[in-house]
Amino acid sequence: MDEPRLFPSNFTWGVGTSAYQIEGASFTHGKGDSIWDDFARESGKVQSEESGSIACDHYTRYQEDVSLMHRMGVGAYRFSISWPRVLPEGKGSVNQAGIDFYDRLVDELTGSGIEPWVTLFHWDYPSSLMRLGGWSSSDSSKWFADYVAIVADKLGDRVKHWITLNEPNIVVPYGFERGIHAPGLELGRKEAVRLMHSLLLAHGQASQVLRSRPDARVGATLSFSPWEASPEKAHRKVSKDIARAKSFEISETNPLNSPVVWADAMIRGSYPTAFLERFGAYLPTRWEAEISSLESSVDFSALNIYASTGVIEKDSSDDWIGRKYAQCESTPKTLFHWPVAPSSLYWGPCWMYERYKLPVVITENGMSAHDWVQEDGTVRDYHRIDFTSRYLGELHRVIEDGVPVEGYFHWSLMDNFEWAEGYRQRFGLIHVDRKTLNRTLKQSGHWYADVMLNNALPAVRQCPSEE
Ligand code: GCO
Repeated sequence: MDEPRLFPSNFTWGVGTSAYQIEGASFTHGKGDSIWDDFARESGKVQSEESGSIACDHYTRYQEDVSLMHRMGVGAYRFSISWPRVLPEGKGSVNQAGIDFYDRLVDELTGSGIEPWVTLFHWDYPSSLMRLGGWSSSDSSKWFADYVAIVADKLGDRVKHWITLNEPNIVVPYGFERGIHAPGLELGRKEAVRLMHSLLLAHGQASQVLRSRPDARVGATLSFSPWEASPEKAHRKVSKDIARAKSFEISETNPLNSPVVWADAMIRGSYPTAFLERFGAYLPTRWEAEISSLESSVDFSALNIYASTGVIEKDSSDDWIGRKYAQCESTPKTLFHWPVAPSSLYWGPCWMYERYKLPVVITENGMSAHDWVQEDGTVRDYHRIDFTSRYLGELHRVIEDGVPVEGYFHWSLMDNFEWAEGYRQRFGLIHVDRKTLNRTLKQSGHWYADVMLNNALPAVRQCPSEE
C-alpha cells in the first residue's frame, strides 16, 4: 500500500472500555455489589485471584483519562454504566453519587469534543437482582427498562448512541451454561434457551424506552467470528457461498453463541428455522408474539470482531474444507492465543450487511500482548500497530466495496481487568502500571492518534532489507 487510505468523511473513530474492567471503587460511594464482585471473591474463578475492585481506578481518575483521550484526538468513547452503581439494589432507590459520576464523565467528554457512546449492560449485573432470579425472572425486562429509563433521563440530552446489551451471545453460554464467567452457573440447555429469550425481551423493552427519545440510536453488540471466503479469485464464488452459510450456522456445540440467533431476533423479530427445529420446544408458549415485537429494535449492527473462525479452501483432493485458524500452527496468534485474522474485518461486516441491510459499527477490535514500559519510558508495541493497520486495511476495503461501516472502536483505551483472565491480557492503547496505576500512551496509541487525525490509514513502507 503506497498511498494513505482515506475513510469516509463522517466516519466515527473511537475507543472502548467497560465499567467493571476499569472503574474500581467497587465497594465505595454507595455502589451495590455486582455478580462480578461475587464471582471474583470465589477462590479459583479469576486468574491469580484478581478482581476489578481497584482496576484502573478510573472512578477517581476519569478526568486524567478523558484528557488523555482528548490529546489523542479520540472522536467517540464507548463506556458502560455499572447498573449497581446507579441502583445498588438493581431497582428502587437511586445512588446519587453513582449517577452523578456518569453525569460528570459525560460532561467531561462532551466538553472535550468526545462523543459518548453508552453501553447499559456490560456484564456487571446487580447481585440483589440475581438473588431474585436475575434474567430468568419474569420481572427482569421491567427491572432493566426502569434502570435504562433512569440513565436515559439523566444522560439522554448529551448521549445519542446506546448499546443495550454487550455480547449476550457470550453472557449466556459462558456465564450460565459453562460457568467460566459470572455468575458461574451451569444450566441445562432448556433453562439457557429461556434465559436467552428473556434477555432478548429485556433488550426489546430497553430499546423502546430509548427510542421514545427522538434522536436516540440503539444497538446491541454481538461477538462475531465469521468464516472467510478463499482469497483465491478462482474459488471465490463457491467459497463465498459456503463461508456465508457457515458464518450463519447454528453451532452444534455452542448454539447460544451463534450470532444469527440473536441478530435474527433483534432485527427480524424471529428465530432462525434451524434453531426452532432443535430448540423451539424449550421456548415459553407465547414466544412467537413476544419475539416478533423485537423486529427492527436496533438501528445498526454493532459487532465485536477479534478474529475469523477460519477460511474456506480446497484441500488436496479438491474438496471444500473449512480450515480453522485456532488449530493452524502457522497462523499468528495474540497472547490470548486468538488468531490474527485481519480479513475478519472484511467478511464480518460483509455478511452482516448482506443479511440485514443495516449500517455496521465495529464496537470492539484489538489484541492482547505482553507490553511493558521500556528503559526510556516508551511502550514499543509494534505488534499492535501492525495488527490494527492490517485489520483497518480490511475494513477500508469492505467500505470501498460498498458496505456502510459507520465507525470503529478500538478495544481498549487502556489495559484493564480482562474478566476470568485477570490483568495478564493487556489490550490497551494506554499502558497501566499495576502498582502505581500510572498511564503511559503506547506507540500504538500515538499511531492510532495519527490515523484519527488524518482520517486515513498511513501508507505501509517496506523496511529496506539488512544485507
Ligand atoms: C467483550 C468483552 C470485553 C473484553 C474484550 C476482550 O465485550 O467482548 O466483554 O469486555 O475485554 O472483548 O476479550
